[in-house]
Amino acid sequence: MPLGVSRQIVGDAAFGASGYQYCGNIMAPAGDRGLGFDDEVVERASAMAVAAAELFGLVGVNGIDFVAARGVPYALEVIRARAPRWSWWSGRTGCRSSRRMPPPALAGPCRRSSWRRPCEGQPRCPRVRGVGADVVSGRPPSPATGEAAVRLEAMVENGTRAEGERLVILGVTNTPDSGAALIVDGRIVAAANEERFVRKKLVQCFPSESIGWALASAGLRIGDVDWVGSGCWKGIDQADTLPILVRDIVSQAGHEDGLQQAERRVQVSASRDEAFRQELYGSLRELGVPDNRVLCCDHHYSHAVTAFYPSPFDEALVFTADGRGDFRSVTLWEASRTDGLRLLDCASEITSPGALYGLITKYLGFVPDRHEGKVTGLAAHGTRGPAYDLLRSVFFYDQAGGRLRSRIGPCFRPFASAEPPGLAGALEGVSREDVAYGVQKVLEEVLCAFLLRHIGARPRKSVNLCLAGGCMSNVKLNYELADLPQVRGVYVFPQMGDGGNALGGAMSVAIQRDGIRRFDMPTVYLGPEYGDADVEAAFRSEGVGHRRLGADAPAVVADLIAAGRIVGWYQGRLEYGPRALGSRSILAQATDASINTTLNARLHRTEFMPFAPVTIDAYAASCFEGWEPDQVSSRFMTICYRATKLLAQRCPAVVHVDGTARPQVVFREHNPAYYDVVKAYIEKTGNPALINTSFNHHEEPIVNTPRDAVRSLRKGNVDVLVAGQLITI
Ligand SMILES: [Fe+2]
Repeated sequence: MPLGVSRQIVGDAAFGASGYQYCGNIMAPAGDRGLGFDDEVVERASAMAVAAAELFGLVGVNGIDFVAARGVPYALEVIRARAPRWSWWSGRTGCRSSRRMPPPALAGPCRRSSWRRPCEGQPRCPRVRGVGADVVSGRPPSPATGEAAVRLEAMVENGTRAEGERLVILGVTNTPDSGAALIVDGRIVAAANEERFVRKKLVQCFPSESIGWALASAGLRIGDVDWVGSGCWKGIDQADTLPILVRDIVSQAGHEDGLQQAERRVQVSASRDEAFRQELYGSLRELGVPDNRVLCCDHHYSHAVTAFYPSPFDEALVFTADGRGDFRSVTLWEASRTDGLRLLDCASEITSPGALYGLITKYLGFVPDRHEGKVTGLAAHGTRGPAYDLLRSVFFYDQAGGRLRSRIGPCFRPFASAEPPGLAGALEGVSREDVAYGVQKVLEEVLCAFLLRHIGARPRKSVNLCLAGGCMSNVKLNYELADLPQVRGVYVFPQMGDGGNALGGAMSVAIQRDGIRRFDMPTVYLGPEYGDADVEAAFRSEGVGHRRLGADAPAVVADLIAAGRIVGWYQGRLEYGPRALGSRSILAQATDASINTTLNARLHRTEFMPFAPVTIDAYAASCFEGWEPDQVSSRFMTICYRATKLLAQRCPAVVHVDGTARPQVVFREHNPAYYDVVKAYIEKTGNPALINTSFNHHEEPIVNTPRDAVRSLRKGNVDVLVAGQLITI
């Protein structure tokens, strides 16, 4: 067998060189260029690649190895491509252009059933390499932070796009509740979370299924994507977050274990974030997406853009709060359509309201980052007492210092999933209800104080408020924020948790790349849709008898509900976000409060908050005090209202012990079939609302496919299934 041997002589002392140096991928984000190549070298190397391809008649190049001296690159090797590639096209159009790959290899939608592997002719990661790049080939770039991040964002901002050319932005997140979203020419065309496909609630993984579905639903393939935006893993913001993180760590010095736990928090965050960031880049690279087409955006900035840009307001304060993300847990922004977002204040992950709420969730026997809603429901049954006092002493708003504070110690640590060692002893003898009340009240008071401080410092004391982040899934907190006299209007992004940051990442790129100032999102019907043929096939495969409904469908379904039947309502595109809002819903009448026990038993759920009501716009004011048609959040079940006497009398099953309800108000233009059923029920019975709860079995995600719905029917979750134009018999 012949054996060839070669030796790397670049940098060899025999030629008077001082040694071998690695520079890395010069097409990587600016901050990752190992030897700090300037823009001129990048441009010259790109031009050299184009010239080499034309000289040798290549369809494209994967990359070109070169050495550089005094800013001039000298070619060593051209790595040809078998099909047009990013690097070739970018070389022709300027390496910072986002122009699309040329046809014909990429023309038309991909017909392959699987998106896990790239198709033939699909662009792969370019390998425009520097000297010795093989040494570290495949290494993901370092996080774009600080100045590098600014340069990266500037690169996005400065891109050029031909008139009329389609811009495709894929949003991807591999945080908990991973998912994907698609924005085409500034329009949100698809969004879904991975849990709905893989049937594992809030799953954290690279969302292959969501990406594949999103692209296929729009007739696109991965090579059509101009940019990938991710609403996470940007890393610490050195200007805004680092000083606050240091301040918060130092402030723990006087507390038992304070510094150790704070240090541990940062170490865990840094190592976990880096691992997931590498997973994101690596998985995208396997799909053929080059690193320099991926923009990791700040976690809380992504939450903030989802809260503001689809909102009805032209100016607002944007408030985000969660467990943690990119080393922060709370941010407050000033936002306007003309000037975008400007950070006013933030809190580090050491002072995390989400961690506080999560550790109490765990203490009460529930799963943190998952069952916080149960604690919110339980809180309405409790009263103020020692639990409130204790939690108020470890998590509070420091009025004198003007900042959120926490005291790490035996009863608080900035980890939702680790119960502090002294908590059980300190809360011994306190009822679960009072503990829940305590954490809920502290959350409300602290975040309201934080907000009021900033409103008080503004010339205009009346604001619109946009909310996102995991803490804003707390409908009672949202109610308290909305109830502040200084707050005029509130918009809560319907997918407010980390599951919304796929869309947040895509929005962030669209805002910066395309100057988008508003995203229309009148509904959350952005997920997969299945036709009657799919439904019929699912029925037949499971041997479920069924018939086709006619024009009287609303009356038929309303009659079933009025007769006390539990109806599975399966129509149209799957909802984006945690709430079922008329696509994958369970409908039942709310006239008897005991249905909260019986229906929860059928669904194998334990809830302390009653089911939520749905009504139509014409009846909403008679159900909810202060309701106005322009209160957009009432369409998404993200905020509480005080129930009217009429609602409490006619529909007691949907009114909480504290007199509140968290409605969905349906407008016909948004979901005609659903609207017609609710309207038919109200007109038939005189009851102004009915129950709408999510269509899923215990601890399962909301149903996605017709088969999921049929399985839920088989488990006895519902009596009747209405899917498309078909109804079970
Ligand atoms: Fe978050």
